[in-house]
Amino acid sequence: MSVALVLPAAGSGRRLGAALPKALVEVAGVPIVRHTLARFADMSEISEVVAVSPPGMVPEFREAMVGVELQADEVRVVAGGATRQASVWAGLESLVTEPDMVCVHDAARPLVQTATIRAVMGSAARSGAASAAVRPSDSVRQEAEDGTTLSLDRSRLWLVQTPQCFATELILQAHRHAKATGVEATDDAQLVEQCGTPVSLVETEDENLKVTRPLDLKVLALLLAGGNS
Ligand code: CTP
Ligand code: MG
Repeated sequence: MSVALVLPAAGSGRRLGAALPKALVEVAGVPIVRHTLARFADMSEISEVVAVSPPGMVPEFREAMVGVELQADEVRVVAGGATRQASVWAGLESLVTEPDMVCVHDAARPLVQTATIRAVMGSAARSGAASAAVRPSDSVRQEAEDGTTLSLDRSRLWLVQTPQCFATELILQAHRHAKATGVEATDDAQLVEQCGTPVSLVETEDENLKVTRPLDLKVLALLLAGGNS
């Protein structure tokens, strides 16, 4: 099976508030996007890697990725768009190897474990579409139109992460359908299920931190220094 890895990294990181785009911020002396890419280094099924950078930052992203030892023959950086969805589409449009499957993983999740990636790939190979997800640790309430809130049954809730893997035709069709109908979503699983394919969830057992706010950078530095991640 051949897999294309699309790494959306084109966000500015507004909530992080750094001077650089989030994926270029260095932790332990290494840009976040490089930490993330290194998590896929040993995977021989990955035939192609496309990192999606903020428009105008392609050379900086190329530089940040130089020398990461990937098995893939094709490694590229392409310019992304104003939304995550537009950035993933830019990555999908640029694919050159006709992979069986596409794996989308946020550059902002640099601690993803090989076991999680393989579990999501395996699930998608069986069902067509799969995503990493975790159970919420806080109780969750939903706000109604009138501002009142109602508690939800936590045991039935999932928080959706990446990696997300899809049969190539499914994710291409889902993005084309979204473009044609003006649908906007915060992840690719939502687009695929809108086209009628249910998405299997694979519980992430290890840390899969998404660097979002300044505290996350500190946590990431500590976890990397601890050597367990
Ligand atoms: N992303 C992207 N293109 C965009 C927006 C986001 O490729 N136009 C990517 C980010 O680079 C990140 C992933 O999507 O790897 C998840 O997005 P998020 O964590 O929200 O990152 P940012 O959008 O950069 O952060 P913020 O929302 O705080 O601005
Ligand atoms: Mg964002």
